[in-house]
Amino acid sequence: MVLGWVCRVCGAEVDVATPFSWTCPSASPEDPHHVLRLVDDGVEAEVIDDANPFVRFARRSAWFAFALANGMSESAALSLAASVADGFSITPFTVNASLSDRFGVEVWAKDETGQLAGSHKARHLVSIMLHLRVAEELGLLGRRPPLAISSCGNAALAASTLASRESWPIQVFVPTWMDPAFGVAIDALGAEVHRCERHPGDPPGDPAMAGFRSSVAGGAVPFSVQGPVNAWCLDGGRTIGWEMAEVGSPVSELVVQVGGGALASCASQGLGSSVALLAVQTEGCAPLERAVRLLGDDDRPADRWAEVMIPWEEPHSLADGILDDETYDWLSLVEAMRVSGGRPVVVSEAAVVEAVTVARDAGLPVSPTGAAGVAALLEGAQSGPVAVIASGVDRSGA
Ligand SMILES: Cc1ncc(COP(=O)(O)O)c(C=O)c1O
Ligand SMILES: [Zn+2]
Repeated sequence: MVLGWVCRVCGAEVDVATPFSWTCPSASPEDPHHVLRLVDDGVEAEVIDDANPFVRFARRSAWFAFALANGMSESAALSLAASVADGFSITPFTVNASLSDRFGVEVWAKDETGQLAGSHKARHLVSIMLHLRVAEELGLLGRRPPLAISSCGNAALAASTLASRESWPIQVFVPTWMDPAFGVAIDALGAEVHRCERHPGDPPGDPAMAGFRSSVAGGAVPFSVQGPVNAWCLDGGRTIGWEMAEVGSPVSELVVQVGGGALASCASQGLGSSVALLAVQTEGCAPLERAVRLLGDDDRPADRWAEVMIPWEEPHSLADGILDDETYDWLSLVEAMRVSGGRPVVVSEAAVVEAVTVARDAGLPVSPTGAAGVAALLEGAQSGPVAVIASGVDRSGA
């Protein structure tokens, strides 16, 4: 059972019953380097026999502990999950014959391409939505504040999908160069899309992020897939790892493509520390690998956030979903790699390009970002039975 949160940086504690506890209480725009991690009672709660992952793993989840701590009954919380998380499925995690033949080890693929909104991103966002809907049902919310997200891809689509189903207003801040395939879909879902241009004299940084921050400062809910911006995204993300753990595969390594880092952090937490986490970035954007190198074996990484997690200068890769210039959830990844005996892996752009064909030939209808874990296999990162996550569907024909 989840008890609450503790900040990895300053140690602040937050009870799970606290509503809208998106960030560490000490975090501020001037001091954003804080991130909450979940604390539980150490007992792994029983799963509920249900095909929806958010019902199945409810008893391990923070949104569920939040509901019960505020007086909601277990049955009311579960029926809320069945409705808010309707359409989520336990995605396949099976041995892939084509990849196994090619690489000479058992390769297990978690195929997330058929998940709600075509990627794993909705898993992160639905735990924030569940928190909001629980709070609303219990009379803790008042008038609905708008949701806000800064993203130009899968996360924006997942966010708009969930918001639209709840008829919850959402503002999506996107760069002007957004892929039209996403733009059309997000518009159709009724999101309020802000295309953020850079103007001469603007402060440095991403103009879409700046728009997002000012919306949140004005009262919007940070509907974010980055742990430091909204820790509640780290709750639902763990379902992907729990699903993989339940299959009982022989994998000893988990290869995950890393952008902001929430996916790898959650998948590794859910799967457990007996599986080594190999965190994959491309040569065109590898801030995590650089941070790990700068850190060495320092056992107080949190104290060195600003010094080692340096924004990447000009991120570029075909795998455009992992071009975050900072690995926001780097602290939990450092911990996960250390406890599991894993490491960062940097792949060449040539491997990223080849991985798309290899993954699709192996029956995984992935985007380049979704194939980036396979790029690590092409470069020989694996040493035994290994898991990859086909994290997002190919939209090039959309
Ligand atoms: C398909 C896909 N895979 C992986 C990632 C990386 O996830 P994270 O940013 O949590 O590291 C993204 C992020 O946009 C994505 O869209
Ligand atoms: Zn803190």
